[in-house]
Amino acid sequence: MSSESLFTPFRLGAIDVRNRIAMAPLTRSRAGMDGVQTPLAVDYYGQRASAGLIITEATNISRQGRSYAYTPGIYTDAHVDAWAPVTNAVHAAGGRIVMQLWHVGRMSHVSLQEDGAAPVAPSAIQAGGNVFTEAGHLPPSMPRALATEEIAGIVEDYRSAARRAKAAGFDGVEVHAANGYLLEQFLRDSTNHREDRYGGSIENRARLSLEVVEAVAGVWGADRVGLRLSPFSTAVGDTPLDSTPMETHGYLARRLGEMGLAYLHAVEGQLHGGNGAATFDVQALRAAFGGAYIANNGYDRHRALNATASGHADMIAFGKPFIGNPDLVERLRSDVPLHEAAAATFFGGGAEGYTELVRA
Ligand SMILES: Cc1cc2nc3c(=O)[nH]c(=O)nc-3n(C[C@H](O)[C@H](O)[C@H](O)COP(=O)(O)O)c2cc1C
Repeated sequence: MSSESLFTPFRLGAIDVRNRIAMAPLTRSRAGMDGVQTPLAVDYYGQRASAGLIITEATNISRQGRSYAYTPGIYTDAHVDAWAPVTNAVHAAGGRIVMQLWHVGRMSHVSLQEDGAAPVAPSAIQAGGNVFTEAGHLPPSMPRALATEEIAGIVEDYRSAARRAKAAGFDGVEVHAANGYLLEQFLRDSTNHREDRYGGSIENRARLSLEVVEAVAGVWGADRVGLRLSPFSTAVGDTPLDSTPMETHGYLARRLGEMGLAYLHAVEGQLHGGNGAATFDVQALRAAFGGAYIANNGYDRHRALNATASGHADMIAFGKPFIGNPDLVERLRSDVPLHEAAAATFFGGGAEGYTELVRA
């Protein structure tokens, strides 16, 4: 099998990448409780700059959008100052880096919100699973439904975050519309029971994602904006699937294609549960979008080589393999075995398991 295509350059909208290997967004919970990254993050991302594209860990666009403890933000100037050395380090090593913009919606806890406020959501439906707080893992709090008039403010928060990401020197941004967070909560009819223009029809449920993309593209140009979705995953927050996932996400993908977005990035199937190829018609989604496609979820060298050689995807995003293998690109190129990272150091802590490797 040809191993050419995985290691050949590509162009995602206006972003030139030197290979087809992306580092998937990975929350590592090592920032301060104020969302300010520490210098460790500079080393961590710099170590992984041989990826064609780094997609940062999900980054809070606002105080309200925050979930897990110690996750970074991009809503104050201190956040910008802490991210700037990260983008410098990646660029100095010849890499490209986009920031994943995140509002968690109902996947939060009152202890993480300003003045103990309830998290916000399309509808007052409590999420399952748990969130990482300063007091450990706790069930998400009961959210309150956003008033229609509040939604424009959230779009503004995305716009400001996009501006700050630009000031911090990123190459673009990825809108996080996957994994059970706010934008996906609006997309799915299981979590969106609204009766205003943000609920009901597919067009209405996709409205917030499209307004956010439009705002962010106004800052960056659409060719430096990507979007991540996970139509067939329930993994975060036990979020039930939409009743017509292909139609809902197909509509969104088509509209994003019309806007000329840099790329579409999909978690194929159930997060951490294989590629779900049997249920997920990736090619239909790609066709609806019509632009560059980044595939993710459980890829290894063999599947990644196949997927790019066969044209299944333009790029492959690797998550866990990048935690344990900062030199993943070289390892894949030379077919050297990979280290398995220790799950105990995925979230929180310091250098151990982050910039200093700990084997499983
Ligand atoms: C520690 C950890 C943190 C993650 N954080 C994020 C995140 O911030 N944003 C996101 O979209 N996905 C996140 N994910 C999901 C990964 O991006 C990816 O979809 C998942 O790990 C499957 O890919 P893999 O099999 O290559 O690891 C996270 C996964 C892990 C293991």
